[in-house]
Amino acid sequence: MSFSFSSFIHLYLITTAVAITNITRVSVHRNPNYHANGTKSLVHTYQKYGITPTMPGPYYRGHDKILRKRQADGTMGVVTADDQQKGSFYTCPVQIGTPPQTLNLNFDTGSSDLWVWSTAIPKSILDSTSGATLFDPSKSSTFQDMPGSTWQIRYGDGSSASGIVGTDAVKIGSITVEGQAVELAQELSPQLLNASSANGLLGLGFSTINNVKPTRVQTPLENMILQMDISPNEELFTCYLESYNANDPDEGRSFYSFGDIDESSIPSGQELCYTPIDNSRGYWMFSSPSVIINDEQFDLPNNHAIADTGTTLLLVPDEVCNQFYAQIPGSEYSEIQQAWIYPTDTSSDDLPDFSVAVGNCQIAIDKGHFGFAPSVYPNMTFGGIQSQGDQNFGIFGDVFLQNVYAVFDGGKLRFGVVQRPPQS
Ligand SMILES: *[C@@H]1O[C@H](CO)[C@@H](O)[C@H](O)[C@H]1NC(C)=O
Ligand SMILES: *[C@@H]1O[C@H](CO)[C@@H](O)[C@H](O)[C@H]1NC(C)=O
Ligand SMILES: *[C@@H]1O[C@H](CO)[C@@H](O)[C@H](O)[C@H]1NC(C)=O
Ligand SMILES: *[C@@H]1O[C@H](CO)[C@@H](O)[C@H](O)[C@H]1NC(C)=O
Repeated sequence: MSFSFSSFIHLYLITTAVAITNITRVSVHRNPNYHANGTKSLVHTYQKYGITPTMPGPYYRGHDKILRKRQADGTMGVVTADDQQKGSFYTCPVQIGTPPQTLNLNFDTGSSDLWVWSTAIPKSILDSTSGATLFDPSKSSTFQDMPGSTWQIRYGDGSSASGIVGTDAVKIGSITVEGQAVELAQELSPQLLNASSANGLLGLGFSTINNVKPTRVQTPLENMILQMDISPNEELFTCYLESYNANDPDEGRSFYSFGDIDESSIPSGQELCYTPIDNSRGYWMFSSPSVIINDEQFDLPNNHAIADTGTTLLLVPDEVCNQFYAQIPGSEYSEIQQAWIYPTDTSSDDLPDFSVAVGNCQIAIDKGHFGFAPSVYPNMTFGGIQSQGDQNFGIFGDVFLQNVYAVFDGGKLRFGVVQRPPQS
């Protein structure tokens, strides 16, 4: 026992030493007005990644690559903003300019633009929304135009956000990034303005997929590294996302941290499991060579996945969905919703154990996350695990991230995860 005891003292000292370094936490706010709708979340992600659905349902992609929707009367329609999830469940306060203007941004590891609602949006558009928070560059003494630079993000439904670019001081947690490119919305499809909770988006992917023209700009993480705001040993950010259920009391534990790993978020006796990432497509992509369903391992040779804080669901290959839902009595594929659903009253004992590989580690998905939202059928629940369509990588969104403490290590190009204790 004496050995364990001295190890304990040793650990204790290390933990204490870590605790006094400055963790630059950014708190995460949950949107109490968010209405989870599974099909809308799925369509949003299919649009974001240009995914062609592989399972039957109203949504399909024509030869022109545009996602369309079969109407109930059999006619073809376009996918409108109403078909997609608007707004975001999680937002984080970020201060832009001098004096600081606080905007609540959607932190998104699946894209690489920092864009905000701004006073450059015409009043006629703004009138259709109420109380939007806008960044006003004229009120910031540190704002500088980037003449000639523009940005545009087009969504598959024809709506788009676009505008001009400037640089300013951007404060994230306690770190101030100087001269960060801020993309100011000037034209914003009216539908997007109704997106409520977020006042813009802060991309944490890699700048190879940044949309500023003629020259791409660096993301805040890349600038923190360039400006040496964070230690060369910890060129990373971490993410801890709490429950998705807006009815649960928000225990205030959700956060991002930059330049430091919060050791207290690593359950005792466990350690972070790292796997190399391939950022050639701009994403945090890693190998995910298997899943385990009720003790049975299914190998997925050459399978990859990305970690995406901007996606709600956990999207995996169809073969995995088939195997997983086959283990839930009464589950079915709903063509109306283009998704897997299962009986809401399924007891925990009737739900399979399920884990997905991140490199060589298996991460168990808590059964409490299997159900994402109500389905259109009163007794059925829209599953949190759905088809990745024709995409050749899985998309590990919040349904996955809520089970781990995650480290996005840009310096060492690796992704680290540690399993969190199951929900009570
Ligand atoms: C933490 O931040 C404070 C104020 O910014 C600074 O004075 C102090 O040296 C920092 N401590 C460590 C351990 O980095
Ligand atoms: C989700 O949104 C779709 C429209 O995209 C709608 O048809 C459906 O009824 C909604 N589902 C629920 C459960 O409200
Ligand atoms: C935005 O929301 C308001 C209030 O909910 C609604 O009246 C308006 O039609 C919406 N605008 C668009 C373009 O969806
Ligand atoms: C669905 O729920 C209703 C009301 O709660 C109940 O009467 C009905 O039997 C249920 N149907 C199934 C298939 O479980």
